[in-house]
Order: sequence, then structure tokens, then C-alpha cells
Amino acid sequence: MKAIALLVFTLLGCSTVSAQTVGAYGQCGGSGYSGSTVCISGYVCTYENAFYSQCVPGTTTLATTTTSSSSTVSSSSSTTTKSTSISSSIPKSTSTGFPSVNGLNFTIDGVTNYYVGTNAYWLPFLTDDSDVDHVLGDIASSGLKILRVWGFNDVNIIPSSGTVWFQLLEDGTATINTGADGLERLDAVVSAAEAYDVKLIIPFVNNWNDYGGMNAYVTAFGGSQTTWYNTTEIQEVYQAYIEAVVSRYSSSSAIFAWELGNEPRCNGCDTSVITDWAATTSAYIKSLDPNHMVTTGIEGFGLTAGSDGSYPYSFNEGTNFTALLSIPTIDFGTIHLYPDSWGEAETWGSSWVSTHGATCAAIGKPCILEEFGVSYNQCAIEAPWQATSLDTAGMAGDMFWQYGDTLSTGESSDDGNTIYYGTSTYSCVVTDHIEAIG
Ligand SMILES: *[C@@H]1O[C@H](CO)[C@@H](O)[C@H](O)[C@H]1NC(C)=O
Ligand SMILES: *[C@@H]1O[C@H](CO)[C@@H](O)[C@H](O)[C@H]1NC(C)=O
Ligand SMILES: *[C@@H]1O[C@H](CO)[C@@H](O)[C@H](O)[C@H]1NC(C)=O
Repeated sequence: MKAIALLVFTLLGCSTVSAQTVGAYGQCGGSGYSGSTVCISGYVCTYENAFYSQCVPGTTTLATTTTSSSSTVSSSSSTTTKSTSISSSIPKSTSTGFPSVNGLNFTIDGVTNYYVGTNAYWLPFLTDDSDVDHVLGDIASSGLKILRVWGFNDVNIIPSSGTVWFQLLEDGTATINTGADGLERLDAVVSAAEAYDVKLIIPFVNNWNDYGGMNAYVTAFGGSQTTWYNTTEIQEVYQAYIEAVVSRYSSSSAIFAWELGNEPRCNGCDTSVITDWAATTSAYIKSLDPNHMVTTGIEGFGLTAGSDGSYPYSFNEGTNFTALLSIPTIDFGTIHLYPDSWGEAETWGSSWVSTHGATCAAIGKPCILEEFGVSYNQCAIEAPWQATSLDTAGMAGDMFWQYGDTLSTGESSDDGNTIYYGTSTYSCVVTDHIEAIG
């Protein structure tokens, strides 16, 4: 981790006024930390917990006295802001009109509410703009406000012509495809989302092998899926990819949040591996784009409070839900829900939602039921999960997995859990639910 932290410091260091100052969102204090406690001008060293203080936007009261040199002002900041609460240390973007956190809810276009959304991971891989436009139109007219699509498509070999890919990882090198069968396809989704005022969640890597995933990096650079998180060379490639995507859309009104990855897991690892990675990566994203929210994309594994002792609550998959949500550069939490895959009863789902909501409320950040699915009887099984999420303080939205529609090529991808626009199941899971919220 040390080498990775140094890399981030180097990148952040570009804007510092002297070697003594810590850049935007850099670490500036904490047990075992021996670096500078002085933030660059405009940032204040904010106490987060015993192990972590971070430079966040703002000034101390001392700064109001004069335009004195920033080093004098900020050198005293680590003591003056020690009592700053977690939630007030999160950069807020309300005034700029970007989607933001407001207490335990989200604000979109100035309206604070509980929001409903969906997943259509495949949308950036379509090659026909009119299909993309058609899907966004149907999603928007349904009242779905948040849409999650894959922001990654990693390959080890360039696929045949006409197949979309975003990044080639081959023999220790990485090539980002910004062309017509590359990130221009993601551009089309972002443009359509802007036009229809739908807000996107965009993850940068997959835990799973679909569309490459961490194993595509491992194939090109070595290591394993569990060493992916703290291997310097791999993290440099991952961050370069993040920069390529974030810089394309950092001013877009259509981004709801950047997401570190889809369902990051590190089986059998100490949870510090993923927590350290998430702190480093989220701070890096904030340094590139302070206006948009950042979240983890985790499933919610690793929770003590409210645990019933079952596997999903265990820490075996290397994530600590509480620790990850407490990272100051993580704006909100995510949970997923697949009781059938996790060996749980479907009725267990509501308790999974409410226990996490309670932790989110305790930490003071909203969470979203970002994925949930079953392959049959969706109305009867999923509606109670949605109702629980709506009724639980700390839960601020839900997004079913996954959305289906009719494209120029036929029906969109069906993984068994797909709910197609215009069907009776859609009426129940989408239309009725949104009407109930008002
Ligand atoms: C915010 O969320 C809470 C709990 O989820 C809800 O009761 C409340 O009505 C929401 N506030 C607004 C302004 O939407
Ligand atoms: C990197 O992660 C692995 C688990 O994948 C862990 O065993 C190792 O201790 C970590 N290294 C550092 C320096 O944190
Ligand atoms: C999870 O993280 C929280 C907050 O940092 C910590 O208090 C707790 O001990 C951690 N749990 C485990 C099992 O690591």
C-alpha cells in the first residue's frame, strides 16, 4: 500500500504550493502517519477518526482574519477542526446543481426525495444511438431517476470488429479505446442521460470476469484477484483508466456517482486491504472531480450491527461495510440483495435492508439498495424489499436488477432477473412503487 499511497501523493502533489503541504483529499493525520499535517490553500485538515485525517475543501475560522499565507492558516487547522463531524467533512455539491447527499436522502435537481432507479449494464455496449435514446426515453418516462451502467469493458485481446471494448490489457501494457467502438459508446449513454435528465452510476472495474474484470488485469500484469487491490502497477493502470473516464464527464449533469467497482470482494483478505484501496481510490477520484459523488459498489457483506450470524453478514469476502461507509471521500453506501444466490430465504431480504439502513443512519450517510433480483415471482418477492427500503431511515433509494427493453435487434439481455418495460411485472416493481412514493 505504501507505494500506492506515494503514487497518489505524487499526483495530488501537482497543485501543492510547497513540498510541505498535503494536496486535495490527501491524508494529513492519523495514528502512525508521519507526513505533513498542512493542507494546500482552500483545504483544511479534518479529523475523521484516530487513524485518518484528510484535507477537505474549506477554511478554518482563523482564515477569515486575513489573506495571510496558507501555510500559517492551515498549519493550525488540524487542531481547530478536530470535532468536525463525518457528514460535514463530505464535499457537498448542492450549490452547483450536481446530484448530492442531503442528510440521509439524495437531492437531484434540487429535489430531496427517495429515488428509484435501475440497472442496464449493457447500455454502453450497444452500437446504435437510436437504441440508446429509446432506452433512456423509456426509463425517464417511467419515473426512474438513477441508472447504473458498466463503465468498464476490459479485454485481453481486441475483439472482432463491431464489438465494443474500452481497455486492452495485454502483456504488461494498457491501451484505452477512445474510438467509435470504445468510450464514444459511453459518451452516447451520457449524452442521452443528459437529454432525458437521468442520472448515472458508473463503476470502473468488475470483481467478476464479465467484461474483463480484475482478472483481465491479472492476465496482463500478474498477481491474483486478491492482490489486485494493492499491486502498484495494476493500481496505476486502474487509476489511469479512472482518469480517462472521469475527465470525459466531470462537468456533466448526468453523473449521479462514480463507483470504485462492481461488487469488490477480496475473499479471505483482511478487510484493511479493501478499505485502504477504497480510501485511496475515492480520494483520487475526488482530486479529479470534486463535484460528483463517489461510492463503493459493494454488496454489503461484513456487518456486525444487526447480524443474524449468516454468511452475508460475515467478513469472509474482505469488506467491512461500516469501515467503508466511514471513509470521508465515500459519499453514500451501496447494498445488493440476492438471497437465492446467498443461500437465504427470500423473506430474509427485508432484514438485510433494514439492518444496513440502521448502520447508514448511524454513520449519517444515505445508502441505496443498488441491485436486487430474483428470477420469478418478482412482484410478490421484491415489493416487500422495496417497501422496507422506502420505510427505513438511512435507505435513500432502490434500483432493481435489471431493466429490459425492446431494441432494434430484439429484446435486450435477459439473465433471468430482467424485468421488461411495459410488462405487468414492470407495472408492479416500477410503476406502482414510484406512484407510492409520490
Ligand atoms: C428523507 O428521508 C427520510 C427517511 O428515509 C424520509 O422520511 C423523509 O421524508 C425524506 N425527506 C425528504 C425531504 O424527502
Ligand atoms: C496486499 O493484499 C494481500 C491480500 O490480497 C495481503 O496479504 C497483503 O498483506 C497486502 N499487502 C499490503 C502491503 O497491505
Ligand atoms: C469494521 O469497521 C468498524 C469501523 O472501522 C470497526 O469498528 C470494526 O471493528 C470493524 N469490524 C471488523 C470485524 O473488522
